[in-house]
Amino acid sequence: MEIDQEQEYRRAMGAFATGVTVVSAARGDGSLSGMTVNSLTSVSLQPRLLLWCLGDQSERYDVFAGADVWGVTVLGADHEVLARRFARAETETIARDEAELFGDAQVLRCGVAHFACRTFDRRQAGDHLIIVGEVLACRSAPGAALTYFRSRYGRADEPQSGSK
Ligand SMILES: Cc1cc2nc3c(=O)[nH]c(=O)nc-3n(C[C@H](O)[C@H](O)[C@H](O)COP(=O)(O)O)c2cc1C
Repeated sequence: MEIDQEQEYRRAMGAFATGVTVVSAARGDGSLSGMTVNSLTSVSLQPRLLLWCLGDQSERYDVFAGADVWGVTVLGADHEVLARRFARAETETIARDEAELFGDAQVLRCGVAHFACRTFDRRQAGDHLIIVGEVLACRSAPGAALTYFRSRYGRADEPQSGSK
């Protein structure tokens, strides 16, 4: 019964189409780790805050739960391969030439938007840690976005000018 309800919850949340991001944070040795994340949510404008939720079963939990400063890259439609790569701990390392310093954080060079964040608050909620970040810097670029809907990747094309 409980498993059925969990599956139903996953299915229902899967109907909520999202973008796809890679959160990046430095490990203790200075190398960079990336994780595919679609729980990104805007929280506040003044101050500028956003949040994402980190599962407590992740092998990379300590890196992301402990990071003071971290980056967010919103992936473009052509970057499904990166989304798949950073969903796996074995291929999580971001090479130096794939990243650049933006604000105080390292972000991927590609992407349709970037955020540099400093951890503002952390709250345990069930089996996830809610990580609230203060936005130190942000920028966006034109281009189609990668999407995630019903467990499948897709794309949201640049809107044509006209009705909003
Ligand atoms: C589209 C997509 C979105 C994801 N969003 C999140 C997320 O918001 N939070 C999270 O903790 N893991 C998320 N994951 C899972 C992580 O990317 C990763 O697979 C998981 O933490 C297991 O990592 P591990 O190999 O370090 O244990 C997402 C995976 C995918 C494919």
